[in-house]
Amino acid sequence: MLTAGSWSLPVVTVLPLELPPLPLNAPPLPRRFGRYVLFEFIGRGGMAEIYLARATTDLGASRLCVVKQIIAEYASDPQFAEMLVYEAKVAAKLSHPNIVQVFDLGRGALESGGNDGLFIAMEYVEGFDLAALWRQCARADVPLPREFALRIVCEVLRGLEYAHRRLGPAGTPLGIVHRDVTPSNVLISFEGEVKLCDFGIARANILVGDVERKDDDALKGKAGYMSPEHARGEVIDARADIFAATILLWELVHGKRLYQRGGDRPSLLDQARAGEIPALVPQEFPDVERLQAIIAKGLMFDREERYASASLMLRDLERYTRQNDLVASPLRLGGWMFENFGEALVEHRRERERISERPNFEPTFESEVIPPEPPAWPEEALAVQNAANLGRLKAIAAGQSNARVWQLIALVLMLVGVAMLLARRGHF
Ligand SMILES: Nc1ncnc2c1ncn2[C@@H]1O[C@H](COP(=O)(O)OP(=O)(O)O)[C@@H](O)[C@H]1O
Ligand SMILES: [Mg+2]
Repeated sequence: MLTAGSWSLPVVTVLPLELPPLPLNAPPLPRRFGRYVLFEFIGRGGMAEIYLARATTDLGASRLCVVKQIIAEYASDPQFAEMLVYEAKVAAKLSHPNIVQVFDLGRGALESGGNDGLFIAMEYVEGFDLAALWRQCARADVPLPREFALRIVCEVLRGLEYAHRRLGPAGTPLGIVHRDVTPSNVLISFEGEVKLCDFGIARANILVGDVERKDDDALKGKAGYMSPEHARGEVIDARADIFAATILLWELVHGKRLYQRGGDRPSLLDQARAGEIPALVPQEFPDVERLQAIIAKGLMFDREERYASASLMLRDLERYTRQNDLVASPLRLGGWMFENFGEALVEHRRERERISERPNFEPTFESEVIPPEPPAWPEEALAVQNAANLGRLKAIAAGQSNARVWQLIALVLMLVGVAMLLARRGHF
């Protein structure tokens, strides 16, 4: 199990790569999907298959991205599709360093059948999700330094705060709640960035099935991060995300899961409904009472007593971090992750990318992009552009009239010259 420990020199451990197997009936990779070339299978979530892809533009520029193909079974369900499209459009409007940027949402035929496959394309965060980082640390027996654990939670809170405060066009709050703040949705890059993914699509994910009955580990695991009110099926608000983020903090500082599975324990969902938090003292952390107080406030059963906003919790956690000299830069976090676990993964992905660049793929079908709302061009930008165009036209016109004046002067001079010549010869 992962235990939070103090900062130590990087231990370079060469571990075999943990790569998910390609789904059984999936065509081989690389393969083209609309304007994307999918070249690496990243994993299968509750409702989608996730691929690392290269997006190419008409002019040949390309960038790495992640394409999330919604499994045909769900994408062809109109109610599910409608909800996903609606929420993914909201998510696409979020633009923040702690949130994975969604930049494409579309429909395209799925190779596994059906012709109404939905997909979401988003920025690729090269690194690990928190669950994978946790596993890597456990496999290599490398503790995650305390300052990194704190940094990760602070960054998650920053992303949540931004999303919770988003306003709609009429200036009213959009009421965005992530609903699925779990370790697999916290991505940490080798640059040390921490980004939340799956914003807004968790509601659709929940439609996928009853978290208890569905025979899917990924879905069941989500119950372990639910606030009591969420697990009880009540209407939730931003404070459910704060509870979930605090579970992440609890688990990182204690080095173990809050709600455990197995034995004769109640199901994760029942444990989440009860919301009982074991009274443990974080071992490796200074000023523990302060840290415990922050955790206790984030995990209040009654949401009225919980932190009212992510920023309030962030303020307390940052102050604790600063005053106890536990601040870590992104550079250190990313560098530590890369040195310990990253090299083999990056090398493998580069190789797959190179292979995907070799063959000249023929598109198997066209994907249709669901148009986003028309870009709101600021009036001033248009005005500046119009003024520039007008200026250019005036300059051209001025140039043309100048040329005409010179032509006229030349003609007059020529006529004067001819007249003088004729006069000298005595014609006048
Ligand atoms: N934009 C991304 N960049 C890098 N990895 C990603 C990205 N999106 C998803 N992943 C990886 O794929 C995994 C599964 O994604 P997801 O569909 O969200 O599954 P789950 O429902 O289990 O969270 C994530 O946990 C993460 O490891
Ligand atoms: Mg996810």
